Amino acid sequence: MAHLAICGGKPVRTEPFSAWPVYDDREKQALIETLESREWGIGSPKVEAFEREFAEFCGARYAISCTNGTDAIYIALQALGIGAGDEVIIPPYTFIATAIGVLMCNAVPVFADIHPLTYNLDPASVKEKITPRTRAIIPVHIAGNPADMDGIMELAKEHDLFVLEDSAQAHGAEWRGKRVGPLGDLGTFSFQTSKNLSSGEGGAIVTNDEALSERVRTFVNCGRVKGGAWYDHHELAGNHRLGAFQAALLSVGLERIDDQMKTREDNAGYLQGLLDELDGIDMTGAHAGTTRRVHHLGILRFGSEAFGGLSKKRFVEALNAEGIECAAGYLPLYHYHYFRHFAEKTPAYESLYQDRVDYGVVTCPVTERISAEEGVWLFQETFLGNTQDMDDVAAAIAKIQKHAHEAIES
Ligand SMILES: Cc1ncc(COP(=O)(O)O)c(C=O)c1O
Repeated sequence: MAHLAICGGKPVRTEPFSAWPVYDDREKQALIETLESREWGIGSPKVEAFEREFAEFCGARYAISCTNGTDAIYIALQALGIGAGDEVIIPPYTFIATAIGVLMCNAVPVFADIHPLTYNLDPASVKEKITPRTRAIIPVHIAGNPADMDGIMELAKEHDLFVLEDSAQAHGAEWRGKRVGPLGDLGTFSFQTSKNLSSGEGGAIVTNDEALSERVRTFVNCGRVKGGAWYDHHELAGNHRLGAFQAALLSVGLERIDDQMKTREDNAGYLQGLLDELDGIDMTGAHAGTTRRVHHLGILRFGSEAFGGLSKKRFVEALNAEGIECAAGYLPLYHYHYFRHFAEKTPAYESLYQDRVDYGVVTCPVTERISAEEGVWLFQETFLGNTQDMDDVAAAIAKIQKHAHEAIES
């Protein structure tokens, strides 16, 4: 008789994990208040209040809200003056938005590899990719786990580069006791549904630099400048403003984020303790300067050998069948359809990219190995429950390990 659920056995778990997104009467009240105020858009006190609160949450002097985390990257790069032909170094292990923000500025994403401990941009690889055309580095705090900001800031200083922290997955994460976002020149966030702070869609850009904050506001708001006429537009810029209903949800979300961060942290620590008892599986580690991780994802490092040669793909299928929601995660960005068809899909290819980039020949070996063989994602809501939930996760993994041959043979 089969043991593994994927082969017809009984799953470890049939109960769902914690529901996400979270809401209660406070959200309902805030939405009704916003509705009845008739102040739904520009100049809304809800938007202004959220921006103040989010700046404070990040330990930043300024926060400017916007439509989503993709636009936030595009806007931030525009505010930094990144333009046609400039090179921006990014990791290939991230959501496509990190690259799209760069390409929307007609700039060139240059892929540097990631560190095997954290899956974050590796400064040693970044260093090799710097050329006279490099203008900026975008570390992505993947899964809510800070990138090596000491290494990145040092390179940026040495080569006079901007640093834009893609913090879409890292609200509240800390590097040497300071929250990520305003550690570099600018930091961007996403409030898309799955994120640890959510309003369905939404984004923000944070900074400690007043002049940059005004540039960002200009690119969020149709090219308008502070003190300028309403109908005077100084830059090529669209409308990327956040609406008041989303801001209202986000302000309430901030009231419970500290508790949620603590719960995820405790559960992730507890799960790591359980995984320590098993061979060939653990969670990504942290760089030395990390003082807080926020577990937007819990990324497992899976080793096929300790599972009798079970592939990562089959492990993911087996764990899902046991009732533990998980995913194989990103491919290296340059393996996606768009990058494989870069020339035909990119209007400015001939004028800007031809003879300069060939994404067909890019290789980042650590990313490729992790993507194909190692990294398995658990989601943040899995960590929002109790230790029994973590016991189930570990029990399902142990069960798959013990009966791996069933999944291999079926
Ligand atoms: C690392 C990273 N950057 C950027 C984004 C883009 O955010 P959004 O979906 O709000 O456009 C996301 C979100 O999915 C992300 O995970």
